Amino acid sequence: MYFTWSGLCLWVLGAAGTTFIANSTYNIYFHPLRHFPGPLRYRASRLAWAVDWWRGRLHRKVLALHLQYGPVVRIAPDELSFSDPAAWKEIYGHRSNKSAELIKDPRFYRVVEQQPPSILNADKDLHTSLRRGLAHGFSNKSLRDQEGIIRGYVDQLMRELGEKAKTSSSINMTNWYSWVTLDIIGDLALGQSLGCMDIGKRDSTWGGILFGSNFQNAVMVGVRYLRLGFLSIFVILWIISSLTKKAKMLHAALDKRIRGDERPDLIEGLMQKVKAGELDIGTLLTTSATLLVAGTETTATLLCGVTYLLLTNPTCLERLIKEVRSSFHSEEDITFASVQQLSYMLACLNEALRMYPPISSGLPRIVPKGGMTICGEFVPEKTTVSAGHYVIYHHPKHWTSPSEFHPERFLGDSKFLNDKLDALQPFSLGPRDCIGRNLAYAEMKVIFARILFSFDMSLAPESSRWLYHQKSYMLWDKPDLNFEIEGHSYQTQYVDIYFLRLTQLKPIVEAAGRERWDDMEINGETVRRVDRVLDVRQGELCWVSGTVYMDMPLKPNVLEDISRDHFISAPPPRQKYRDFNKDEIMLEDESGRLRLVGGTIMQQGLVTGCIISVMGTETASGEFEVVDLILPELAPQPERSLSKAVPDKKRYVALASGLNITGNIHESIETHLLVEYLLGESGSPEDQSKSSSISRLILAGNSLADPQSQAVEEAAAAAGPSRTKAKKYGYDAAAYNAKPTTTLDTILSDLCTSISVTLMPGETDPANVSLPQQKMHPTMFPSTKYFTGSSFIPATNPYSCEIDDVKFLGTSGQTVDDIFKYVDGEDRLDMMEKTLRWRHVAPTAPDTLWCYPFQDADQFIISTCPHVYFVGNQPEFGTRLVYGSNDQIVRLIMVPKFSETGELVLVDLDTLECELVNFKAKAALPT
Ligand code: HEM
Repeated sequence: MYFTWSGLCLWVLGAAGTTFIANSTYNIYFHPLRHFPGPLRYRASRLAWAVDWWRGRLHRKVLALHLQYGPVVRIAPDELSFSDPAAWKEIYGHRSNKSAELIKDPRFYRVVEQQPPSILNADKDLHTSLRRGLAHGFSNKSLRDQEGIIRGYVDQLMRELGEKAKTSSSINMTNWYSWVTLDIIGDLALGQSLGCMDIGKRDSTWGGILFGSNFQNAVMVGVRYLRLGFLSIFVILWIISSLTKKAKMLHAALDKRIRGDERPDLIEGLMQKVKAGELDIGTLLTTSATLLVAGTETTATLLCGVTYLLLTNPTCLERLIKEVRSSFHSEEDITFASVQQLSYMLACLNEALRMYPPISSGLPRIVPKGGMTICGEFVPEKTTVSAGHYVIYHHPKHWTSPSEFHPERFLGDSKFLNDKLDALQPFSLGPRDCIGRNLAYAEMKVIFARILFSFDMSLAPESSRWLYHQKSYMLWDKPDLNFEIEGHSYQTQYVDIYFLRLTQLKPIVEAAGRERWDDMEINGETVRRVDRVLDVRQGELCWVSGTVYMDMPLKPNVLEDISRDHFISAPPPRQKYRDFNKDEIMLEDESGRLRLVGGTIMQQGLVTGCIISVMGTETASGEFEVVDLILPELAPQPERSLSKAVPDKKRYVALASGLNITGNIHESIETHLLVEYLLGESGSPEDQSKSSSISRLILAGNSLADPQSQAVEEAAAAAGPSRTKAKKYGYDAAAYNAKPTTTLDTILSDLCTSISVTLMPGETDPANVSLPQQKMHPTMFPSTKYFTGSSFIPATNPYSCEIDDVKFLGTSGQTVDDIFKYVDGEDRLDMMEKTLRWRHVAPTAPDTLWCYPFQDADQFIISTCPHVYFVGNQPEFGTRLVYGSNDQIVRLIMVPKFSETGELVLVDLDTLECELVNFKAKAALPT
């Protein structure tokens, strides 16, 4: 018999083939798991499982198998996968004293047996000791102590991103999220900065070692499962070479840490054990390395996931941005404590954990001696069992539209009532659950909130399909996530307005609150004052002050319009934003936000931007049930002297609005009659005597018609063939239609010869759209401009002035028109009265009313109560007196649109009584 190499090869192959066939036959027909369903190739050998595992697509494959075979699938000869959420508790949960714990499958968790155990793969006793040693470092108190360390790194991230936003067009956030989390956990687990953000390279020493280990680990796990002993030697040699380097670096870092001072990091408890000789340095080393991987890759993955999912779901992003930017006054306010109030943020993170769980695979456990029942199925001992995160979170039996991103499912939205929210266990449960859960949430919320607060983001085109077809070997093999970021300033500036408003008006409602509620007792309980919204405690009777925010799904987002640079065209108008079933009233201050409920608050007709104090209790569901409420009420009013220059002579101020001059030669007859009346050239002797007593005409906005209106187009067409197109003021000099302005100029210059005219801009006038609207420039009116400084008074909107000793305050109508959309009913006088009681002329700015982002003062606060408060361009005339508790009396006047009603309002400066002069009626009289 001769020996040949080819003969030997044939012999080896034949033996291997026979063993494979024999094993497969046993696995299919005789194995204790033979009754469980699954595809043949998975039941026959581990090879199919290992191939899918190495290809990084096992998570998707197992989901497909569950959809095909049901809740229990045999995914390898000795392994069952469960897709019923009940499996979480039964496999991973705490076991009663009598039943043994399901141990972790060492083939998955202990790829290199020669290494000392870590917390992740230690046996029960060592695990208990390690977990106790780490518990202090992960407690809430330690988390608070660690906040300073973490903040330092987040500050650095924000600085770096700020710099990048200025220079580069696209930023790879996979890197930046990984680096910041690595620097944070490096500091907390090794006691030193790893400097990943300084180096700024993914393949930097630390980054390279950690990012490489995911795939290395996957290769090794497959090799171990297949029992390819001879191949393991090569793989171990390959891994050992990098492990040695890693071990050396970790050793050096920990050595330094042991010699250093006590500090509030994650491993201080284990350090003490090492110093006391209760723990060997090798186990400390592997546990620190575990913390480094477990604490960085997971959080970085989720941050990438939530960013991508929000950028591809703009409605959700918009809602979250709103929550973040309206909850904080500045980035410094974003802390571990203050981010707890961000309910939509939590819902977004949870939804991202569901769609893109950082640990995606099943975590294999071994059934103890005697077997056990899992989800109603008896499973024999030594079987490997698992419940896969990706599988359970994408199973249509547990979630409505599982492949879509809907944070609302975690906020009780009725569309998702059938969702099994308990099925989400991304941090696992039981004795081996994630110890870093609180740290992870705090870190992710702070990092993400700060980014959303300070930057506007958009996805780079090359990352538009980032989430799809990613490989996963327990952890994801994330590709680059590129997006463009821009520092945003407009919204931050708006935050100043709210802050300034709160600072100015809060002391007023607080003083009233102290007077009414201090020492008050209700049912034996004393009402307590609480400084900040965040300090309200459940079940405690208290009062607190803040700014109202109306969360109304139907409300448009003005900030968004402005941030998109749509300065010219306003959003499409809506009759009412109100929706009883969906609207929510929030009270916010610099610390957080509180949802207000109860009949008392609902009946108030509040709008975003009012400052109030509320008294009540926070219920178990986290809502604040309002018992009583305080508004700032009317501001102090200056006294009037009531002495007259000429006794018995009447004094009037005339108010008109909405002349809507079109430039048409058939300009309304009422306008001509108005001019003649004011000049004392028409009417009865009585009319003429009255008009001679008018000292001032105030034109409260919309003196010029909307340039896009049909009447203006007709006027332009009548002007000649070159003017047949709709015109816009100020854009195209050649297309500019000057007719309306020149007509108004003629009217104004005529009037100014006889009385003073105040011209306020309105919505349709050629002035800026945002409040306060600036004065229309006198040079627009070539004939009238000569009266500037004497009888022609261009004014702003809103406008306040004193005429004789009567204080006037008025707007051209946008303020009340906007409030009208927030509240029920049609009573506009009531809305005007409310603004006086809120001490704010335009509370809904900047939420739904465009306004300039003031930095140093909120110019709309009413610090002095007027005697006459008018609002122009209202559908009809209306008037009423309002009384304040300090003898204030205010005359409210709704000034109707002249072009529709032909009405002019006369205000008697002595009695503050109003009279209407109707030019439509006059025009109808026979001449
Ligand atoms: C989004 C972030 C995170 C997710 C989704 C997550 C998820 C998990 C899961 C599922 C386990 C159980 C593993 C198993 O049973 O084999 C686990 C364990 C663990 N996690 Fe996390 N984790 C996160 C963040 C963190 C952080 C920030 C740290 C700490 C720095 C951390 C440290 C650990 C440790 C030490 C264990 C082992 C606990 C033990 O066996 O007692 N994790 N994590």
